Amino acid sequence: MSAGGAERDVQITGMRLEAAGVISLELQAPDRSALPRWHAGAHIDLVLPSGLTRQYSLCGDIDDTLRLRIAVLLESNGRGGSREVHGGLRLGQSVTIRGPRNAFELQPADSFVFVAGGIGITPILPMIRTAQRANATWTLIYGGRSRASMAFIPELERIGGDNVRIMPADETGLIDLDDVVTRAKAGAQVYSCGPAALLDALTERFAANDLTDSLHIERFSAASPKTAQQAGAFRVMLARSGGAVDVAADVSVMTALREAGHCVPSSCEQGICGMCETRVIDGVPDHRDMLLTEGERQRGDVMMVCVSRALTPTITLDL
Ligand code: FES
Repeated sequence: MSAGGAERDVQITGMRLEAAGVISLELQAPDRSALPRWHAGAHIDLVLPSGLTRQYSLCGDIDDTLRLRIAVLLESNGRGGSREVHGGLRLGQSVTIRGPRNAFELQPADSFVFVAGGIGITPILPMIRTAQRANATWTLIYGGRSRASMAFIPELERIGGDNVRIMPADETGLIDLDDVVTRAKAGAQVYSCGPAALLDALTERFAANDLTDSLHIERFSAASPKTAQQAGAFRVMLARSGGAVDVAADVSVMTALREAGHCVPSSCEQGICGMCETRVIDGVPDHRDMLLTEGERQRGDVMMVCVSRALTPTITLDL
C-alpha cells in the first residue's frame, strides 16, 4: 500500500455525462506538463472550492501521463461533495488534488474476476486495461440498477469484448455470486468495488469457502455508526518512542496520538484511503476500516489508526 503524493493545482479540461447521475472530470496540469504516474486501483483527493475533500478513484488510462480522469455519482443524500462536483464545478476551473495513492493495488495474477456494482466500476476500469495488457485471463461482471445508470459501458465493451458481462438488475437480475466463488475456486483473483451489500455478500461467501485471500475489495463508505458506538477505552504503547497514550472510548487512536503530540499522516480519516496504516507489534486490533482484506484482518499486523481500535486492553504500535 503506497502513501504520499504532493498537492497540486489542476485544470478541469473535460466534463462528460457518463450515465444518469454520473459525470466524469478530465484533469490536466495548467501548463499541460506530465502528471504523476499511477497504477490501477489508485485514487486522488479532490479538494473542492468549499474546502471539502473527497477521494475518487482514477478511471482513465494509466499510460496517459497528461490527463487524470475521475467519475462522480450524484448522491442527493450524501455529505455534499458530489453535489458540489455536479453543481459547482465548471470546465476550465482550477481545483486542487492530492495523490495519487493506492490502497487497492492490482497484484499480478494469471486470472482475474472483476466484480463492479454501480459507480464501483471506476477503480475496476483501469484494472481491466492492465489485465488485458498483461495478457491475463479476465472477466468483468458489472451490475447496476439499469443500463442508463451504468457508466462507461461502451468503453468497457471496446476494451474487453466478450470478457465483459453487463448485468443491469432490471434486465438480468442480480449478479450470480456463486459463479464468482466457483471462478475463485478455479484460481482467479477477485477484485470488487461497489455497494456495501454486494461487498458484504462477497466477503461472507469467500470466508465460508476459505477463499478470503482471493478476494480484494474497496469500499466507498465509512464505518457504520453501530461500530462507532461499540468503542471502549484502551492504551496504545509506542514501540519506537517508548511512550504510552490512553485512548478514551469517544476518541480515535489518531486523535489521541495527535493530542499527545505525535504526528500521524492522514487523508480520509474514515478508514478508506490507507494513508494512516500503522504496523501492530502486539495486541489485537479491532478493525473498522474499509480496505484491509479478511486475510489481512486476521493477520492483525497492521491497522488504520483513524478508525480502528483495540480488542485487548493495550496494543503496541510501531510508532
Ligand atoms: Fe484514510 Fe486512515 S486516514 S484510512
